Amino acid sequence: MRTLIVGHGGRESALACRMAEHSELHALLGHENPSIVRHAAESGGGHALGDVCDPRAVAAFAREREIDLAMVSADEPLAAGVVDALRAQGTATVGPTRAGAEIEWNKAFARSLLTEVAPEASPLLRVARDAGEVAEGIAAFGSMPVVVKPSGLTGGKGVKVMGPHLASHEEARAYGVSLFERGRADETVLIEEKIVGAEFTIQAVSDGRTVVFPPSTYDYPFRYDGDEGPGTGGMGSLSMPGATLPFMTTAHYEQACSIIERVIARLAEQGRHFSGVMNSGFFATADGVKVIEFNARFGDPECMNIMSLFNGSWPHVMERICAGALSAEDVPLRKEASVVLYLVSPDYALRAGPAYDFTLDREQIEAAGSHVFFSSAVQSGEGTYRTVGTSRAVALATTAPTLEEARARVVQSALTIPVLEWRRDVGDEGYLNGLRALLAPGPPAGGEPLLPNAV
Ligand code: GLY
Repeated sequence: MRTLIVGHGGRESALACRMAEHSELHALLGHENPSIVRHAAESGGGHALGDVCDPRAVAAFAREREIDLAMVSADEPLAAGVVDALRAQGTATVGPTRAGAEIEWNKAFARSLLTEVAPEASPLLRVARDAGEVAEGIAAFGSMPVVVKPSGLTGGKGVKVMGPHLASHEEARAYGVSLFERGRADETVLIEEKIVGAEFTIQAVSDGRTVVFPPSTYDYPFRYDGDEGPGTGGMGSLSMPGATLPFMTTAHYEQACSIIERVIARLAEQGRHFSGVMNSGFFATADGVKVIEFNARFGDPECMNIMSLFNGSWPHVMERICAGALSAEDVPLRKEASVVLYLVSPDYALRAGPAYDFTLDREQIEAAGSHVFFSSAVQSGEGTYRTVGTSRAVALATTAPTLEEARARVVQSALTIPVLEWRRDVGDEGYLNGLRALLAPGPPAGGEPLLPNAV
């Protein structure tokens, strides 16, 4: 069987690793990601460089390589309609169409749908359609702290929260206005209440009808230890041997799964094709869960947790999804803890910067029990690599019976890699236990808002 992966991040490296075990893998990439290039070659397939967001180019590549099954797993190609182009020519494809992926690329749409199916889990919201409405929207929250986010794709870097990123309502207003000044004309800005709670994600796998739920995952979306510094695409992630994380309850998990099922069912009712993975972000709070966002694909890094735990054939899962016949037995996962640690350019999320050369002994790291999943890096020599842009360069992923063991293993290997930067607190149990304090019941910060929920 010939399979296709579209994209070049750490997430696609992990998928490529699993796909190449059971198929001849072909890849269309924006840069020569060393993991994907190697897995494709070792499976008897190959790769080409191209624009992964150009639906016609991706479809032509799939035709040329006579692809049986394709996987589109990154937000921008999904928003560009790559799945639509593949399906239109008859290529069986895992991933939502542009209409299905609107749940991610239009946060105002996502919130409107959420209000229909799970109003209890929807944070208070105002949508500003122009710069003038930003001040009005923020004023409606009274003294309550707010979160400001553009409705479109941001690569994890567009959301700003009062407290860590915005010192006052005035700064929140200025940020919201600036989004209109530099954003697209059709974009809206969301102003939401700041929820007090601890975040978790679920990487729900679906054929559009049946939904399979892996364990909850935790992502570290800030640049520095202790959640200091700017927001990022995720500096690491983890999961525990059971379904929940140390700070949340089974009730949180079950409520979140039920919301995802309702969202996927509603997309189907609306005639929007959704298949693949819905990476759904939640806050666990003292009063149940609140939704942060829905992503129409695996999270990056969380995909690497699930692929490290996965104990089956991913091309088989893709076949079952395309046949509309997915069941939980198709997605066997080992009951272990998993830790993923991203090593990043020293300039990541901070500033533009040069390319950095670094060395990495892949075979040694793999022999010590971790996967190496490259992201924004290319190979520059034997055992030497160069960063691409100022992004996340390479991830180390492992599983073990306990979180402590998994963390120790990736940290040991990270210490052998020079130049790149990484968070020291990824997988630290003290950090996770600290999140429990965020679930203590109490009055909402800043008093009552002045508005009903308005989308
Ligand atoms: N882990 C964040 C994201 O994939 O968007």
